[in-house]
Amino acid sequence: MMNFEEINQQALQGGGVDKIEKQHAAGKLTARERIHHLLDEGTFCELDRLVTHRCHDFGMEKKQIAGDGMVTGYGKIDGRLTFVYAYDFTAHGGSLSETNAAKVVKVQQLALKNGAPIVALNDSGGARIQEGISSLAGYASIFYQNTMASGVIPQISAILGPCAGGACYSPALTDFIFMVKGHSNMFITGPDVVKTVTNEEVSKEELGGADAHGTRSGVAHFVCNTEEETLMSIRELLSFLPSNNMDEASVRKTKDSPTRYLEGLEKVIPSDPNLPYDMMDVIQPVLDDEYFFEVMPHFARNIIVGFGRMAGRPVGIVANQPMYLAGVLDIDASDKAARFIRFCDCFNIPLVTFEDVPGFLPGTVQEHHGIIRHGAKIVYAYAEATVPKVTIITRKSYGGAYIVMSSKMIGGDINLAYPQAEIAVMGAAGAVNILYRKASEEEKADIVRQYEEKFSNPYRAAERGLIDEVILPKDTRKRIIQSLEMLRNKSVSNPPKKHGNMPL
Ligand code: HXC
Repeated sequence: MMNFEEINQQALQGGGVDKIEKQHAAGKLTARERIHHLLDEGTFCELDRLVTHRCHDFGMEKKQIAGDGMVTGYGKIDGRLTFVYAYDFTAHGGSLSETNAAKVVKVQQLALKNGAPIVALNDSGGARIQEGISSLAGYASIFYQNTMASGVIPQISAILGPCAGGACYSPALTDFIFMVKGHSNMFITGPDVVKTVTNEEVSKEELGGADAHGTRSGVAHFVCNTEEETLMSIRELLSFLPSNNMDEASVRKTKDSPTRYLEGLEKVIPSDPNLPYDMMDVIQPVLDDEYFFEVMPHFARNIIVGFGRMAGRPVGIVANQPMYLAGVLDIDASDKAARFIRFCDCFNIPLVTFEDVPGFLPGTVQEHHGIIRHGAKIVYAYAEATVPKVTIITRKSYGGAYIVMSSKMIGGDINLAYPQAEIAVMGAAGAVNILYRKASEEEKADIVRQYEEKFSNPYRAAERGLIDEVILPKDTRKRIIQSLEMLRNKSVSNPPKKHGNMPL
C-alpha cells in the first residue's frame, strides 16, 4: 500500500523520468514546468492529481499514470485568480481520454462560476486512440464549455507542441492563440493525409507551424520564440483584461501626463496624400508611456489591432496602416478587426480607432471570396459594440470605408479629424471621371482641383456634426483621454434578442 508521500511524488513525475528527459531533449518544458512559469510563484493549487483512466482495451489497464496526462488547477497571475489546464505529453502523449477531459471540464466550469480567466497549455497527440468515441465525447464537452464561457471570461490557448484534427477547435473557440516557432503545429489533417488525399507534399511546419498561422491563416494571434516568452506574453495579455465580462480591467498608475502634447506628430503624416507613413508612429506616442501591445502583428498588416493604456486604463486600438496596401480594407483585415472589436466589447474595453483608409480593395479575388460578407463584419461589430468608441481620422476617409470605421451614424461616440483629413464619398479623380465623362483631360484636371478643394477636407463633415471636432495632431492624446473620461459612464443597450445574426 502506497503512502501519501509516495503517491504524490509519483504523480508529479507524470509519465516518468525517461519521458521527461525526452520532452526536454525535444526542447519542450513539461506541463508542470509550464504552469510554474505562467503563474505567480507558489500559487498553483492542483486538482485531480490522482485521477486515472478507466480503459481496459489494448492492455491499457496495465498503463495507469496518475493524472492521466493532464495537469489542472488554479493559481494567480499578478495576484488575480486564473485557472489553467496543461496537457502532459509525457503521459500517453498528452492524449485526451474520457477521464482527463472531465478534469478539463471541471476547471472550465469552476472558471466560469468564479468569473476568472482560463489558460489552456496544449501539447497533445490528440484523441486517446485506445478510448475511441469516449475521447471524442470528451472533446465535445470541452468545446461546449468553451462556447458557454465565450464572452464571459477570457479564454487563452497556447500551442506548445502538436495539436491536430478536431483538437484544434478548442483553441479556435478561445479568444487568443499563442504559438511557438519551431515547436507548435496545428492542422486539421497532417502531412500524411494531405499527401494521400491531394498528393501535395508539405512539412508539418509549412502546413501548420507558427509562421503559417501567424502570417497566412490568421489562426494564431501571437508567435513567440520560446515557451518562456509565450508564457510571459500570456501574463502580459491578461494584464490588459478584466477577469470577466462584469468586471473592469485594472487601472495601472502612470506618470505620463494625460495632457501631454505630441509635438512631433504633425510631421508624421506626409502632406502628399499619396505617400505612406507608419501608423505606429501615431499610435505609440498617444498611449501611456508610448507602449503598445500588438495583436496579430504579422497577419493582414494593412490593419493594426492591439492594446494600450490611456490615463492608466486599457483601451483597444484599431488602426488602418497606410504602410501596407495603402491601409485598404480587404477580407483578412475585416476579419481581424471585427473579431478584435467584438472581443473588446465583450470585456468592457473602450475602442480607439485611427483611420486612414482609401476604401475597400477592388477586384475579382476579393469579390469572389466574399468581401461583401467579410466587410460587413466590421460594420456589425462596431455598430453592436456598446463600449465607448472614439475615432480619429488622420487622413483619408472615403466611401464605405468611412462608414465602417466607427463613424458617428453606426454608433461611434466621438469622431475627431485632423485638418488634413479627406472625408468624401470617393476620391476626386474617380468622382470627376463619372460625373464629367465627356470633359477633356484639361477640363477634368481643373474640376479635380475644384473637387479636392471643396470636398477633400474635414470641414464638410464637421458642418454636419459628423465630425465632432477638427483637432491638431499635437492634441490627440489629450482629446482622446477627455473623450474617454466623458464616456466612462456611457450606458446603452441593444434591443433584447437571443443573439444577432452576424455575417460570417
Ligand atoms: C494514445 C498516443 C497518442 C494518441 C501519441 N501517443 N499519440 N497514445 N493516443 N493519440 C503515445 C504514443 O503511443 C507514445 O506512447 C507517446 O504517446 C509519445 O508518442 P510518440 O509517437 O513516441 O512521440 P513523437 O515521436 O514525439 O510523436 C508525437 C505525435 C505522434 C506526432 C503526436 O505521437 C502522433 O502522430 N500521434 C498520433 C496523432 C493522431 O493521429 N492522433 C489521433 C488523431 S484523431 P509510448 O507508450 O510509446 O510512450 C483525433 C480526433 C480528434 O485526434 C477529434 C476531436 C473532435
